[in-house]
Amino acid sequence: MQKLISSKTNYYLLVFSFLIAGLINAGNPERSKNGMVVSASPLASNVGIEILKKGGNAVDAAVAVGFALAVTYPTAGNIGGGGFMVIHLADGTNTTIDFRETAPYAAYETMYLDSLGNYNAQLSQTGWLSSGIPGTVYGLISTLEKYGSMKLADVIQPAIDLAENGFMLTYNMAESINKYHNDFIKYESSKKIFTNNGNKFKEGDSFVQKDLANTLKLIRDNGKEIFYNGIIAEKIVNESNKNGGIFTRKDFIDYKSLERKPVIGIYKGYEIISMGPPSSGGICLIEALNILENINFEKQQWHGSTHIHYLAEALKRVYADRSIHLGDSDFFNVPIEQLISKDYANKLFTGISDTATNSLALKAREFNQHESDQTTHYSVADKYGNAVSTTVTINSAYGNKIVVEGLGFLLNNEMDDFSAKPGAQNQYGLIGSMANSIQPKKRMLSSMTPTIVLKEGRPFMVIGSPGGSTIITQVLQTVQNVIDFNMNIYDAIAAPRIHHQGLPNQIDYEPFSISDDTKSILTGKGHIFGKELSLGRMEGIVIDIDNKIFYGATDPRDYGKAIGF
Ligand code: DON
Repeated sequence: MQKLISSKTNYYLLVFSFLIAGLINAGNPERSKNGMVVSASPLASNVGIEILKKGGNAVDAAVAVGFALAVTYPTAGNIGGGGFMVIHLADGTNTTIDFRETAPYAAYETMYLDSLGNYNAQLSQTGWLSSGIPGTVYGLISTLEKYGSMKLADVIQPAIDLAENGFMLTYNMAESINKYHNDFIKYESSKKIFTNNGNKFKEGDSFVQKDLANTLKLIRDNGKEIFYNGIIAEKIVNESNKNGGIFTRKDFIDYKSLERKPVIGIYKGYEIISMGPPSSGGICLIEALNILENINFEKQQWHGSTHIHYLAEALKRVYADRSIHLGDSDFFNVPIEQLISKDYANKLFTGISDTATNSLALKAREFNQHESDQTTHYSVADKYGNAVSTTVTINSAYGNKIVVEGLGFLLNNEMDDFSAKPGAQNQYGLIGSMANSIQPKKRMLSSMTPTIVLKEGRPFMVIGSPGGSTIITQVLQTVQNVIDFNMNIYDAIAAPRIHHQGLPNQIDYEPFSISDDTKSILTGKGHIFGKELSLGRMEGIVIDIDNKIFYGATDPRDYGKAIGF
């Protein structure tokens, strides 16, 4: 009886929340025949679609969107940070580009600990010591050179124009910048750009970024060398020296983005192509899907007690593995094959009973999770059969809030993604171990999960999200919503989500995501409910392969745009 009430209530909650979401956004996916670009910035999506209209491929468009986001979405779009790109080419090639930041040569394991050995989060999250060596310029340009069809000058020009001529601030962007006003006024270089002559911005103000336009022009005319072994590197290192940072010219000269094999799994016949180390995203996503494959969700109510119970139990196991086994695989032996194997997942599944496992028994550690800030994902698919899934970040919203004087871009605070001390939590409440300790030139572990799902070898779904530690769980649920619960991409993204990362041992959840009846069943099984919060900002595409129709959806939790043509 209880279950019946739960199912009905869930159904009404689902419909209700979709209606709410429908009021905020269009309600249906964008539909097109020749390609689709979805990003958190309507201006950047437009840049991408114009490239596709000119005959560019998905890589050309993705690189153009990457540069445009650095101008129009500075909370996360960047040239002062890094990211990951997952690519499927029409010839069947699956590959990934790792342009994650690296730790400077002068970085060392205990650099964020005080004399008593206590972790000082201020140091890893703010100031010049919090930044890794930016990888975005290297990553975007080398990917364009290898897989694009257009010239750098053509794909970067729209970003230059947007920076040079400016654009009108929307209410949301003005508010987003103003939220960090007190941080920006601390640095003259940041105050110059991210305040209106020292005051807060208003909706409708013109946002012009001349210094950034000049930096992008230097890159346009000289390629990535100028960023890594030219005037741009020189200026960044000089500023770092002046302000107590540890960057050296050699850090920049030696930086390279890396092409890496994707991690690949199969979920109910669909191929999951995702990002491997130094991101934990792909491994954790596939491990969780492998565990959940043991359940026939067609017989289950979406967000009913069985669904949530198994989601939470799978996630507890996945995040326990993350904290021990995952780090930069160039520095630490990550057991990738084992973690994504069906055998291992089946063993974990057999350990799940009808009652909730205490996460502390899986990995003993307690901490609080902080609110996540910003990162951004964008998805591109073209009419040739190529697809690109990219997530980029400067970690916190606007990174460490420091604009490099004269260059017009913000620096990341990605060093906080390292495990500063075994067991110490970072800003997402994540713990780590030796696998993710700080070492010179090492890449800090990420949760970013840019993913492409293939059906019969062709792109079916392109998906990803920001959200720090919650990225993995958001991507997982959106994939499930499409594959297991037959939702269209808009509904799959709009549907309320939950999050469990093992520790703290609690299910966090969005409004309307779990009915009170279902909650009480789950509480009876021993689950603990944590915070009600907003989770993830997905930007996704689903392709009807047979009819060659692209469906795109931006997350109604944010203000992006899906544009097709
Ligand atoms: O790489 C990571 O996992 C984090 N630096 C991502 C940060 C993030 O998603 C913040 N956005 N909400």
